[in-house]
Amino acid sequence: MSLLELDGVKVHFPVKKGVLFNRTVGHVYAVDGISLSVEAGQTYGLVGESGCGKTTLGRAVLRLVDVTDGSVVLDGTDVAKLSEKDLRSFRRRLQMVFQDPLGSLNPRQNIESILSEGMAAHGIGANQDERREKIKEILAKVGLPTNALSRYPHEFSGGQRQRIGIARALVLEPDLIICDEPVSALDVSIQAQVINLLEELQESMGLTYLVIAHDLAVVRHISDVIGVMYLGSLVEEAPSDALYAEPMHPYTKALMSAVPVPDPEVEERRERILLHGDLPSPANPPAGCRFHTRCPWKQDTLCATERPSLTDLGDGHKVACHFAREIHEGTLTRAGETPADAPPAPVVPAQADADSVEAETETKAKAAEPEDKAPAEAGAKAAEPADKAPVGADAEPDGDAEAEAEPDPDADAEPEAAAK
Ligand SMILES: Nc1ncnc2c1ncn2[C@@H]1O[C@H](COP(=O)(O)OP(=O)(O)OP(=O)(O)O)[C@@H](O)[C@H]1O
Ligand code: SF4
Ligand SMILES: [Mg+2]
Repeated sequence: MSLLELDGVKVHFPVKKGVLFNRTVGHVYAVDGISLSVEAGQTYGLVGESGCGKTTLGRAVLRLVDVTDGSVVLDGTDVAKLSEKDLRSFRRRLQMVFQDPLGSLNPRQNIESILSEGMAAHGIGANQDERREKIKEILAKVGLPTNALSRYPHEFSGGQRQRIGIARALVLEPDLIICDEPVSALDVSIQAQVINLLEELQESMGLTYLVIAHDLAVVRHISDVIGVMYLGSLVEEAPSDALYAEPMHPYTKALMSAVPVPDPEVEERRERILLHGDLPSPANPPAGCRFHTRCPWKQDTLCATERPSLTDLGDGHKVACHFAREIHEGTLTRAGETPADAPPAPVVPAQADADSVEAETETKAKAAEPEDKAPAEAGAKAAEPADKAPVGADAEPDGDAEAEAEPDPDADAEPEAAAK
C-alpha cells in the first residue's frame, strides 16, 4: 500500500450571496475528483497553472479544508474519519513547507521558540533541553548554524528562512511533507540550493514529499512521479522521465513546448503550441473535457460533452484525453493543420528539452550566483516560458527575486543587509 492514497478527492467551496439569507448560489470546483498515490520515500510533483487547485489539494490532505467527496488515506488511516482530538496528534505526521518563508514564521518568536512550539505540543522531547538538542541536530542537517537558535526570522535571508521552514517540519518527524511552491519566492540560485537540500534530506532521512509547483523544472528534478493538474483534475500522470520525454496530453504538450531551448538550432525548429484564452473559472468549468475550450486538438461533440477519465496507456503513463493515442501517433491533426503538416508525435523536442532545461538553468544560476557553487542542475525557473502568453499559466512571481546572496550555510548566519 502507498503511504498516501487519494481517491476521487473533491473540494467544492460554496459561493454565498445575500446578507440576510446567505444563500448558496453556486460552487467553486477547486478540486474535482483527484486520485493519486505517493509511495514512501518518493516524491510526487504536482504542477499546474495558478488557480488550478494545487494548494487546495494540499490543504485537503492536511484536512485544513473539508473534503466534499472522496478519501485521503495516510498509512492506512482515513484522515476524514479522524475526530478533532485524533486529528491534532495525527497532524504531526503531515507537515507543510510554505511558499513564503517569512510570512509563515512568527516574527516575534526566535527560532528556538518557533521550532520547539510544535515539538512541545506533540510531546516530543521530555523537556526544553532535550528539544534544544534535537533542534540543533536538525539545524545542522538543514545547513544552519546552532547560534540561529536565539535569532529572529527577519535576521535571515530568504533561503535561510526556507531552511528554517524545512527544519520546523523535520523536528516533528513527519511521514509526509507537503512542499507548496517551496522555492518560487526565492532567487534562482537559492532555489537550486533549497531543492538540493530537500533531495539530500530525503536520501539521508528517507522522507516522502508531495511537491507543489507551477514550474516544470523544479518538479522534474525532485520528482519520481509527476501529475499535471488543470482546473481541479489531473490531466496526465507519469514517471518524471517519461513525462518529459513524451508528454501526451495536449495541455502538457503546450506547457512543455513553451520551454525555451538554449541550442539556437533546436530553438529555431522548436514548435510552439499556443493556447488561446484564459483558464476558465473553476466556478463555471466547461462541460466535457475541461480543457476543450483551449485545446488545439479538440474534436466536435465528444470533447465538449464527455469528460475523459485518467487512463493508463502503459508503464504508468496516465492521460485524460479521448484522443491521446491518435494525437501521440500523429493521426489526429490540430485545428487549421492539414494531415501533411502534422508533425510526428511527440510535438515537443523530447530529450532535448530535458537537457536544455538543465543547461538553461545552469546558465541562469551561474549568472545569478557569483560565489556559491551550489549545483545548478536543480535550478528552478528554467522551464518558465520566455513568453508566458501561450499558457497564461506559469504565473511566476518574477519581481520577488531577492537581491541578497545566500551566505555559505555552514558559516555563521549574519543578519542580512537585505533583511526586512
Ligand atoms: N476558501 C476558499 N473559498 C472559495 N474559493 C477558494 C478558497 N480557496 C481557494 N479557492 C479557489 O479555488 C481555486 C483554486 O485555488 P488554489 O489556491 O488551490 O490554486 P493554486 O493552484 O494553488 O494556485 P496558485 O498557483 O496561484 O497558488 C481558485 O479559484 C481559488 O480562488
Ligand atoms: S479530450 Fe478532446 S479537448 Fe480534451 S484534451 Fe483530448 S482532444 Fe483536447
Ligand atoms: Mg497555491
